[in-house]
Amino acid sequence: MDIKIEAADREDFLQMIELADLTMPDRMNLHELKKYFELFPDLIFKATHRNRLVGFSCAGIDMHQTTGWLLFSNVIEEYRGRGIGKMLIQARLQVLQQFQTLEQVLVTVNATNTASISALRSAGFEMNRTEPDYYGPGKHRNIMRLTVASSSSPKKTEPPVDITR
Ligand SMILES: CC(C)(COP(=O)(O)OP(=O)(O)OC[C@H]1O[C@@H](n2cnc3c(N)ncnc32)[C@H](O)[C@@H]1OP(=O)(O)O)[C@@H](O)C(=O)NCCC(=O)NCCS
Repeated sequence: MDIKIEAADREDFLQMIELADLTMPDRMNLHELKKYFELFPDLIFKATHRNRLVGFSCAGIDMHQTTGWLLFSNVIEEYRGRGIGKMLIQARLQVLQQFQTLEQVLVTVNATNTASISALRSAGFEMNRTEPDYYGPGKHRNIMRLTVASSSSPKKTEPPVDITR
């Protein structure tokens, strides 16, 4: 199947919101998506099949540029299980990894979302922590993490050889 993954445009707004409403009603709204475009325009990707939008995903990075976040991803039901979710993860990781200072990429996951967790594990993410009561009493949030080998960190040097003995 000829799926194209490419940077999303502002003109895709309405189609993206329609798609998000189908896959995760009430999770994403136009205002939130517009904010992502303002803050992280290079981190929003769409998946198309014969010019039809079949999925999209968003990511962000913190102000120190050390922690990237996978923020949202969805694929319409009839196109799931064909590797599109994993392609959308890779597209975002590729851009995030261009930040020399990047140390880790985090993502919030729902413990029951097996497809999402499998896709993230395939990309090297591991369960990292649970933040109790994050969404209110008894509503915890789970975070998965990918450690990034920093290209800018100084290389470890061998300890000096002791020549006094
Ligand atoms: C999560 C989601 C984006 C994955 O997209 P996808 O295109 O189906 O993902 P892929 O085809 O790349 O498959 C990813 C993994 O999930 C597995 N998978 C796919 N559908 C599955 C299902 N229904 N149940 C269990 N595992 C499933 C695949 O086998 C694959 O795992 P593997 O690497 O171990 O083989 C998609 O299911 C979706 O849009 N869900 C609703 C929105 C959502 O939950 N978004 C994530 C939180 S923002």
